[in-house]
Amino acid sequence: MGASPRPIKITEVVLRDAHQSLLATRMRTEDMLPIAEKLDQVGYFSLEMWGGATFDSCIRFLNEDPWDRLRKLKQKMPNTPFQMLLRGQNCVGYRHYADDIVERFVKHSADEGMDIFRIFDALNDFRNIATAVSTAKKCNKIVEGTISYTVSPVHRLELFVQMAIQLEDMGSDILCIKDMAGLLTPKVTFDLITEIKKNIKLPIHLHTHSTTGLAGMNIQCAIDAGVDMVDTAISSLSMGTSHYPTESLVAALQGTVHDTGLDLGILEEIADYFEEVRKNYAEFESDFKGVDINILKSQIPGGMISNMENQLREQNAIDKLDQVLEEVPRVRKDMGYPPLVTPASQIVGSQATLNVLTGERYKIITKETRGIVLGKYGKLPGPLDPGLLAKVTEDDKTIDCRPADLLEPEWKTVTTELGNEYTSEDDRLSYAMFPKVALKFFETRNHPMPVKSAPASKASQPAQESAAPAPAPAATAVAPAAHAVYNVKVNGRDYQVEVGPAGSALPASPAPAVATAAPAPAPPSLAAAPPTSGPAKEVVTSPLPGSVFSMKVKVGDSVNSGDTLVVLESMKMETEIKSHTSGVIQSISVKEGDKINTGDELLIIG
Ligand code: CO
Repeated sequence: MGASPRPIKITEVVLRDAHQSLLATRMRTEDMLPIAEKLDQVGYFSLEMWGGATFDSCIRFLNEDPWDRLRKLKQKMPNTPFQMLLRGQNCVGYRHYADDIVERFVKHSADEGMDIFRIFDALNDFRNIATAVSTAKKCNKIVEGTISYTVSPVHRLELFVQMAIQLEDMGSDILCIKDMAGLLTPKVTFDLITEIKKNIKLPIHLHTHSTTGLAGMNIQCAIDAGVDMVDTAISSLSMGTSHYPTESLVAALQGTVHDTGLDLGILEEIADYFEEVRKNYAEFESDFKGVDINILKSQIPGGMISNMENQLREQNAIDKLDQVLEEVPRVRKDMGYPPLVTPASQIVGSQATLNVLTGERYKIITKETRGIVLGKYGKLPGPLDPGLLAKVTEDDKTIDCRPADLLEPEWKTVTTELGNEYTSEDDRLSYAMFPKVALKFFETRNHPMPVKSAPASKASQPAQESAAPAPAPAATAVAPAAHAVYNVKVNGRDYQVEVGPAGSALPASPAPAVATAAPAPAPPSLAAAPPTSGPAKEVVTSPLPGSVFSMKVKVGDSVNSGDTLVVLESMKMETEIKSHTSGVIQSISVKEGDKINTGDELLIIG
């Protein structure tokens, strides 16, 4: 046929999406650095190493600075462009930030070593990526404008073509088709890329997960239709809910006009390395490893399944997984068919989980569900279910402007709140993204000491450690007489923790047991209540498992029906617990940060 060479370019996702999909995003920088120089020799188009969940996981679970990870890797990999996934106006968080935060986040990421910004909006409302796109362009970085691919009655081929044209007009350098759930089929892939190619001039980059087992065929069809770049994962962290293996694609294309030119020998060394590393994270492995064609029906992305598994396991409700998987598409339809990608995937997933765990649909509505229904995340692709809308909008109105237009600048608040204590751009941005988690992280980041191969205690389950490693065991220890040293396993890593009597000077942590107990407002017991208060007493219990995010009332406060009493955090979503009665707060049984289970007493209204 005599066609001229058209090598396929490869983006390796092992440092971001592969472990996000397979290992609950727990891979640590220390497991990345030893192989960084080797990765740099391969000649990838780019290496994806940052994205929403990795940033969050670093400070929430790993006690690691995500900015440090970026710089340390960059130092060892000067030749390979770094790529990140950016959630448009959400940056790497779960809500819309004001434009000043988005601009600073993108600029600082660019300054510290990011080269290619893959920017998407969960709803494909491109007003939500405009600020990030224009900032990355100003920084002279490469922008991948992204279509979040999904399947629904409203997502037709012509709609995707329109999106591609819009993204080209916005100044994208590359068009990315992001098939986060592995929903693409070979024929659709071919048609989609063929049609888009007819309408825009940009190179096209395909991101597709291998959950359904179709990824290899999809990639071949994408190549036939003229795709330019493809995401793959090194074989030892490929397949399942991850990506097609890098080596397989390299081997498949050898000797063809699409030959990638990558060296299988180097790739094999990298695969061997990650095969060993993967063992460190065995406890985070998803139960799902094979091929699941049902996903074409449920449309649940890889990362979302493993997160929901972890959440349900933590709540001793793993047997409910099938019910939750059935509830997800119903919730999605009610919400107007948002694509299941962060944050919509978390919002739909958490709401579906709550609907199942509470035994009643929308008995509890998370703050985020309320927000997406009200238009606070952008325009939903399809119509809302009137029943859900009515439950959410008793007094609120939906909005139709760009959500960030309603936000005041936030940077000044960030710097004021952090004061003189944390003044680096790194810390300020981490705080801007995740205020509470970041503050905890700032306190603990210098403390834990990794200890190799200490005996594993299975006590700490995945997501229970939203408190950083050190405090947890200290808080439960019953005041040992002298300092004692424990080996504790947290997030698959072993830590040495020193525990001493309350008040003793501990280098490891600011005596959390004391610190948290002290501010508790000496709860006036029920005896303090007027004896006549009698039968109107209402015990408010937790409708779901999670933790106490913030207390909105204190003992002695008067509340009316409908007032918010407590904000709970469950599955990273906030849920407001409202009063169903009027009265005075008689007692409070929990404090901010406490872990709670369904049915636990929160407070008593008399
Ligand atoms: Co992905």
